[in-house]
Amino acid sequence: MAPEIVTVAGIGADGWAGLSPLSRAAISSAGVIAGGPRQLALVPAEAGGRRVPLPSPLRPGLPALVGEHAGGGLVVLASGDPMFYGIGATLVRLLGAARVRVLPHPSSVSLAAARLGWPLDDVDVVSLVGRPRELLHPLLQPGRRVLALVADPDAAADVRALLAGRGFGGSPVTVLADLGGPGEWVGPAGERPHSRLAILAIECAVDLGPAGPALPRVPGLPDDAFEHDGQITKREVRAVALAALVPVPGQLLWDVGAGSGSVGIEWMRVHPASRAIAIEPRADRRDRIARNAAALGVPGLVTVAGPAPQALAGLPGPDAVFIGGGVTGDGVVAACWAALGAGGRLVANAVTIEGEQALAGWRARLGGTLTRLSVERAGPLGGFTAWRPALPVTQWAVTKDVTQEDS
Ligand SMILES: C[S@@+](CC[C@H](N)C(=O)[O-])C[C@H]1O[C@@H](n2cnc3c(N)ncnc32)[C@H](O)[C@@H]1O
Repeated sequence: MAPEIVTVAGIGADGWAGLSPLSRAAISSAGVIAGGPRQLALVPAEAGGRRVPLPSPLRPGLPALVGEHAGGGLVVLASGDPMFYGIGATLVRLLGAARVRVLPHPSSVSLAAARLGWPLDDVDVVSLVGRPRELLHPLLQPGRRVLALVADPDAAADVRALLAGRGFGGSPVTVLADLGGPGEWVGPAGERPHSRLAILAIECAVDLGPAGPALPRVPGLPDDAFEHDGQITKREVRAVALAALVPVPGQLLWDVGAGSGSVGIEWMRVHPASRAIAIEPRADRRDRIARNAAALGVPGLVTVAGPAPQALAGLPGPDAVFIGGGVTGDGVVAACWAALGAGGRLVANAVTIEGEQALAGWRARLGGTLTRLSVERAGPLGGFTAWRPALPVTQWAVTKDVTQEDS
């Protein structure tokens, strides 16, 4: 017997009147309607069958809800578009797309775009619901428009403070609260307190004045964008390393010997789905990494204490590994290489002759390219200007192929 289909119907603050005929028919003929109290209250008493609350906590309770009620014609109510940060996406992950019928409703973001006259295809969207405000940082780019979903009354004030701290204090912020409902309010942030459920529409200022220019998302941020103690992979070398690491959105990087965290942070800034783990033995540097990650908009960067290779045990397998410290350490490169699957990239830097010799040995065994990067920056010399060379960096970059998968 084919497994039963579960229907997920989106419903907005305009309730029953705002539903499509298809959604009304599905809910009316449901044996069981599951939803949060707010959504269940929007459905007339005579429509559909038995009402059941959604389990709390939601995810662990969903299999039992579906197991108990799917055979009886289950309709789950979602707020707005079920596939946009909604329970529809959760159910599809649990049951597979073939078992879930989704009946969408305009999301709050669609309603906001409609009220503002902003084309959605030219807007960046971020959810700050239960997530750090710092996620906004990478989206703050001159002239860009951002819609931020929030769920607490302090959000507008916090976001304006965050904008000011980055030089974007002149950016107009509009609050769109309780969209689609009788209490809908759209107005400038700060004009009056806003309700819990709101969208903040940010028009990023173009001219950042003395704070400019904005920080790009292309790797190679200036060194002083990071708090550091001198142990930082310099901007030019970092940009080359990240290019060789190939930061594919959604993939996981191990940043081994993370120092200030700059490589992992730049890897994650490329795309919101990108993930990184910073492995660093020194506690003061791990604290600094966390501060840098928050300030640069990637608070999800994970830090792991301890030296490699011991600290690597049990970590989720990486798609790419950067070794910024420890190439001469026993088993460090071997453990990083072994953790990669086919297609995985490894980039290792060394500044000492011993480190360089170790990398030359690895290249002889495994292939890849060795590159020597020398950067000189002009600086004052008396009343003149002279080149000041930084220590040259030897960089080994290699991609694992299928024939090396078990090495
Ligand atoms: C040159 S710094 C790395 C700089 C870093 N890529 C950045 O941009 O901030 C080298 C770091 O490697 C760390 N380290 C040295 N040996 C290590 C090992 N075996 N495992 C993990 N980290 C190590 C040091 O504590 C130091 O913070």
